[in-house]
Amino acid sequence: MTKRKTIIAGNWKMFKTRKEATELASAVAAGIKGEKDLPEVVLIPPFTSIEAAIESVRGSSIAVGAQNMDWRDDGAFTGEVSPLMLLDLGVKYVLIGHSERRQFFGETNQTVNQRLKAALAHKLIPIVCVGETLDERESGLTDSVVRRQVAAALAEIEPAALDIIIVAYEPVWAIGTGKVCEADEADRVLGQIRATIADLYKEGGHSARAEQVPLLYGGSVKPANIEEQMAKPEIDGALVGGASLKAEEFLPLVKAAQKRVQGTAKTTKDSLSKV
Ligand code: 13P
Repeated sequence: MTKRKTIIAGNWKMFKTRKEATELASAVAAGIKGEKDLPEVVLIPPFTSIEAAIESVRGSSIAVGAQNMDWRDDGAFTGEVSPLMLLDLGVKYVLIGHSERRQFFGETNQTVNQRLKAALAHKLIPIVCVGETLDERESGLTDSVVRRQVAAALAEIEPAALDIIIVAYEPVWAIGTGKVCEADEADRVLGQIRATIADLYKEGGHSARAEQVPLLYGGSVKPANIEEQMAKPEIDGALVGGASLKAEEFLPLVKAAQKRVQGTAKTTKDSLSKV
């Protein structure tokens, strides 16, 4: 049985003012209060609402993350936020290379690598996002694109960092579209990602560390599809957009992940076959 961390992370994207963030984070904290065997729950608000979210979850096991960060500590970089500024707020996690950053804000495999190095240097837990576009999938390029993104992100990263890094597979065509990647396919691609990591670190005998890396799926995750995902061997959790914006949709995802922590996650198919 896998002993990897199970994680449910809510990426709020460019939603939630401070007041709204306080309401949502407080509702999530209240919803899991007193629960055992919880997954790691991470709320990822926009920068301006990070502090409000942190205040709202104080005293709970919920962690707060940022959606992006610069790789430099400070300097004349108008509009950017540094790792030191995030640490100062009490941020624990940081998304790196989200497809919306890659698509709209010029994020490249190289800047993903620079951000990852900075996150590790500052002891922020990085969630590195990879995933193919619809065109790439339809051209049969899914595995090669994802493999390339993972290899570029991990360039010059020490093997010991594999105990900290989290990777999220978010196929671009499944984000915010309602088109979910089938759980079997997400599991397969995540398996490829794990194999890629093992391969990258085989020199020096560090392949086994790939087994430690929690792998998340993201793209139209909701209460209706989470159970099947949580029953898959390679899907250690979810990176959730739309369904993380309402406590009544996010909390069932946490509950489904709790079953994975308890080792009782089952797909409908599994449960039917046992009848
Ligand atoms: P949706 O869950 O809205 O598809 O977004 C996924 C995502 O991009 C999370 O980072």
